[in-house]
Amino acid sequence: MTELLTFVHLTDLHVGNPNIVDERLYSETSKTLATILADVKRISPKPRFIVASGDLTNQGDEGSYEELTRLFDEADLDIPVLFALGNHDKREGFYRAMKGQTENLTAPYDHSTVIDGLHIIVLDTSAPFKVGGIFEAGQAEWLESELAQHADLPKLLVMHHAPALDDDASLEWESLSFADTETLRQLVAGHNVVGILSGHIHYDRVSNWHGIPVVVGVGQHAATDILAFPETFRMVSGASFAIGTLRPSGLTISFVPQPSERRELHSFSFAHMAEILKRYEDQAALAAAE
Ligand SMILES: [Fe+2]
Repeated sequence: MTELLTFVHLTDLHVGNPNIVDERLYSETSKTLATILADVKRISPKPRFIVASGDLTNQGDEGSYEELTRLFDEADLDIPVLFALGNHDKREGFYRAMKGQTENLTAPYDHSTVIDGLHIIVLDTSAPFKVGGIFEAGQAEWLESELAQHADLPKLLVMHHAPALDDDASLEWESLSFADTETLRQLVAGHNVVGILSGHIHYDRVSNWHGIPVVVGVGQHAATDILAFPETFRMVSGASFAIGTLRPSGLTISFVPQPSERRELHSFSFAHMAEILKRYEDQAALAAAE
């Protein structure tokens, strides 16, 4: 039997800056990531790549990205890592600390690569002052041209916000916007997209979205307690990562949960969530007016 392509899916790492007290960090994310990367190192045969689908850091400052780099360096994996950005990330901090970039610091971080015959396309669905995801001007066009490349190869999409599964407006913050979800549906139609890897909602969830598997992981920060829905947004301790295997029959995702007592870390009502979202909207409007 030929060796199958395997990879690792990380998400929502929420790494913090060790020099700054962050009251909204809620868990020891550096420790969690170090533990999980040590597990990744034990996987045999060695995975061909790692994707980290956004919320790489909790606050998006340069010091947090430096800590993220330190953790990967210390893990000494010798495996390529493909990073996506999420709503907790800040492009400027990421570009400065991880790419050594000093110009063009607000552009979406979209990129692609081919590894062992798999065309991996990473989209930046983050936007300043937005909890949910969107495509900014030019991103849909970039994706269209990217999908036309390597026409004979299967494609794996990585984006922090999964496409929307429903049209419940009160839940649009959980996903890519409804309008851009429809754009995405039209763009990927007819292409061999083996899966979409996402995060953001902090629980393991697998969906069939127009025939494409959409996989969301708990990630390495905290777990959303879906048993508390729909009244309460409750975060409990818990983390996992996933191992992907690409077979001729399609994509397999195996979850590797970390042991956890599911201790409550943070909890608030969904009514309060609406207030938080409103605050973000006001900040966005203010920034746009400046
Ligand atoms: Fe997150």
